[in-house]
Amino acid sequence: MSESLIIEGKGEGKPPLQGTVNISGSKNATLPLMAASLLTDAPVQLIDVPDLLDVRIMKKIIINLGARINYQEGNLYLDSSTVNSYSASYRLVTRMRASFLILGPLLARFGKARISMPGGCAIGQRPVDLHWKGLATMGTEFTLGNGYLEASCRQLIGNRIYLDYPSVGATENIMMAATQAQGTTVIENAALEPEIVDLANLLISMGAKVSGAGTPTVKIQGVDKLHGTSHKVIPDRIEAGTYMIAAAMAGKGVKINNILLDHLKPLTAKLGEAGVAVLETSPGEVKILPPESPQRIKAVNVKTMPYPGFPTDLQPQFSTLLTLAEGVSLITETVFENRFRHAEAISRLGADMKIEGNNLVVRGKPRLRGSRVKATDLRGAAALVLAGLAAEGKTEVQDIYHLDRGYEAVDLKLSGLGAKITRQRQTVLPEAPTGKNQNM
Ligand code: EPZ
Repeated sequence: MSESLIIEGKGEGKPPLQGTVNISGSKNATLPLMAASLLTDAPVQLIDVPDLLDVRIMKKIIINLGARINYQEGNLYLDSSTVNSYSASYRLVTRMRASFLILGPLLARFGKARISMPGGCAIGQRPVDLHWKGLATMGTEFTLGNGYLEASCRQLIGNRIYLDYPSVGATENIMMAATQAQGTTVIENAALEPEIVDLANLLISMGAKVSGAGTPTVKIQGVDKLHGTSHKVIPDRIEAGTYMIAAAMAGKGVKINNILLDHLKPLTAKLGEAGVAVLETSPGEVKILPPESPQRIKAVNVKTMPYPGFPTDLQPQFSTLLTLAEGVSLITETVFENRFRHAEAISRLGADMKIEGNNLVVRGKPRLRGSRVKATDLRGAAALVLAGLAAEGKTEVQDIYHLDRGYEAVDLKLSGLGAKITRQRQTVLPEAPTGKNQNM
């Protein structure tokens, strides 16, 4: 049964968000780090792992391969010494694209892998051609049959690989495969995201020889074997950015703790342009100072780009902030082809958002009004919650499982900031009688 979040908006006179919220470990760092534990038969400990739906799915996938995993107080203990299969379950892999990240480690450890093709999802077609091409360049042979990809290679051979697009997942899969390849691999036009650097740091602590992570050229010198390690996951920059935007829309002096401000420069810059100040109150903590009234938020133009450009994962949330700005904003989405799905639902709350190709035109309005809306994807769901917090009256956000994929204890964290927010079973609306013979 799906669940909804019921949110009492800020509206006139409702208490805004106040206090401090703590950011969890990064989902998009945790998932590749979990996959990397397959590279060794020694135990790997990951510290500050968020309790999320996506992490639980990745746990199931790795356990189904024969590994042992337990999760205690935010720490994950992974032991892949008992892995006895290289085939990942169709049901689980098709639920979460990031499961494709086990491909590189399985090839490095066992020389083979059988994994279903990760389908597209709500935000785009999401091909894996760059993963495939990179691993093929290292000697992997692929066959595709009824939705499964069979990959095999006697020995991965280091090579020079140019990525047509700085794909995060392709960079991660190739890096992991290259750790135990014969010779050296050089990835050109590699992704620069902080999660790539965090993965490289884990691999190095396991004995891999990786240099250049965080730059467009990553070099990996193959070694015979990797050993176990213990690694602290970086804070989630997208969760942090989401709370920064919530604080800008509906907060008063909200503080956000456990963040790496360096990872949020594009957002901090854009918030500044919009008239929202971000003050570093102490190392790893910021205070958000929106203008006196939301209407003083200024319209700005945003274009999403690979890191260090403005992150696509904060586009739905930031475009929702701009629905309250003074003036017209233009948001250009260059990373995914269908990432404006939140616009329709936010418009039901009174916003003026028009999709024009890969642009979203947002004409600021003085207020939003609560309504019943349905989430369609993870970051779109976050945008709906932010809108509900800033709107007048009550908002019900349905299909909240989308949000639980990437935000740990979101209702508790928001309640901790004073939000009036409750989780409940979804109200199933009776189908309106159509007048037709119901017994057809
Ligand atoms: C990662 O996805 C993140 N997920 C995404 O976060 C994030 O939006 C994305 O990077 C971009 O920053 C995880 O880290 C688990 P890509 P990934 O490969 O690796 C095209 C969230 O909300 N492409 O960099 O799948 C692709 O179609 C999620 O937390 C190819 O053409 O992203 C897209 O247009 C959503 N061929 C672009 O590159 C390929 O082989 C970016 O994809 C691979 C990708």
